[in-house]
Amino acid sequence: MKDTTKTAFRAVAVLGVAFGLCVTGLTAADAKSNPIKDAMAKYHKAPKGTDPVCKKAGAGTASKEEIKGMLAAYTAMAAAKPPQGDDASWKAKTGALVAAATALDKGEAGAADKYKGAVNCKACHDVHKGK
Ligand code: HEC
Repeated sequence: MKDTTKTAFRAVAVLGVAFGLCVTGLTAADAKSNPIKDAMAKYHKAPKGTDPVCKKAGAGTASKEEIKGMLAAYTAMAAAKPPQGDDASWKAKTGALVAAATALDKGEAGAADKYKGAVNCKACHDVHKGK
């Protein structure tokens, strides 16, 4: 097979997978998935003895894939509704996370510090987490 053909095939395969994921994501959202809990579990928590992605991101050691995944998780989280707290506050806090993760993804100077400022667990939980 010619190289260009292979590349085209691969592109189609990747798109197909991405589309499949989107569709499953949507169906799951109808059931009881919670993008906020998903983001917390995947990026703010880690098994004992390992660093969560949020910590690595602040230290500048998170991988490109981890940052991209985190950015997607924060974007989904921003569109979700927290258990409590007003909308403006939620939009501001999640917006800061999305902006900081975007800066990390682009490798902007100062992005890690920006992120550490945005990922303030207690400041957000106090207002939005509920009991
Ligand atoms: C922008 C807001 C925000 C930030 C920042 C934030 N959280 Fe959360 N977190 C939430 C909300 C809202 C919930 C409650 C979700 C629910 O119950 O639906 C939550 C829930 C959780 C949970 C429980 C998840 C579950 O399955 O019940 C854990 C663990 C958690 N957060 C860890 C963290 C840690 C650690 C940090 C800091 C590194 C952090 N979060 C930063 C908003 C935030």
